Amino acid sequence: MHGSGPNLSVGSGDQNRGTMPSSDTVHIAAVSDVHYGKHSQGMLQPLFAQIAERADVLVLPGDLTDYGLAEEARVLARDLTSSVKIPIVGVLGNHDYESDQAEEIARILTDAGVHMLDGDAVEVQGVGFAGVKGFAGGFGRGTLGPWGERAIKTFVQESVNEALKLESALARLKTAHRIAVLHYAPVQSTVEGEPAEIFPWLGSSRLEEPLTRYQVSAVVHGHAHKGTAVGHTTTGIPVYNVSLPLLRATYPDQPAFRIIEVPRETAMPVISDERRMHGRRAEDREPPATRVADAPAR
Ligand SMILES: [Fe+2]
Ligand SMILES: [Fe+2]
Repeated sequence: MHGSGPNLSVGSGDQNRGTMPSSDTVHIAAVSDVHYGKHSQGMLQPLFAQIAERADVLVLPGDLTDYGLAEEARVLARDLTSSVKIPIVGVLGNHDYESDQAEEIARILTDAGVHMLDGDAVEVQGVGFAGVKGFAGGFGRGTLGPWGERAIKTFVQESVNEALKLESALARLKTAHRIAVLHYAPVQSTVEGEPAEIFPWLGSSRLEEPLTRYQVSAVVHGHAHKGTAVGHTTTGIPVYNVSLPLLRATYPDQPAFRIIEVPRETAMPVISDERRMHGRRAEDREPPATRVADAPAR
């Protein structure tokens, strides 16, 4: 039932056409897995500056740091604050948990002005963002079930909890368009390209159900550095793997970020739950791949 709702065009044509963000469209730039280290100062500053010029919002879906160190987050925070004057929305990734400093990393980035989401939602320029890290567990018939050992049940419960957090974040949004920001993949199609043996560690189908229920306009995630850039949920919602290495490999001649274009809502309609759940679908008009791209900034 494509086309029954407000149009959503997804693409990144603007940076190629050299136009500035227009007033009737919100341009959302997304790039994940920047993996900032202690010595990364300035590493992505040119890319961030390019994003700030061409987008209205920047989304960073996790693996912001390499070893999950607060010191690494401070380096990233400095590059963001010096280059990016547009609103930023982020979630943490698994790397950000590596050194048990995730809370401090989130605080450092929050202090730098980033809207860090963990089962929360934020509205930016009339567009709703629901964010959660997500978790592993596998896809479709391969999804791990909570059976047997306590350790398996604990593992599966983490996956269920992340899906519940995503659902409650989405439930808070009353905007016409909602973007889901995840680190782990909610569908298998955007992890394909990685070895099949590790698919279960790259995401979970449990994350897909809330996306469908709340009819999100688009999903961005990372984590699978060698996955596939574009996929869809089973109901046709566009899913974008925006991990930096993948964007560089997929679109070598273009800047390493994806732009999602969402019509700017002049008045914020309150979508009834009935309409939210059954009445509208965002139209996905996928642009040619050449419109999405990789930056000169490496
Ligand atoms: Fe990563
Ligand atoms: Fe990751």
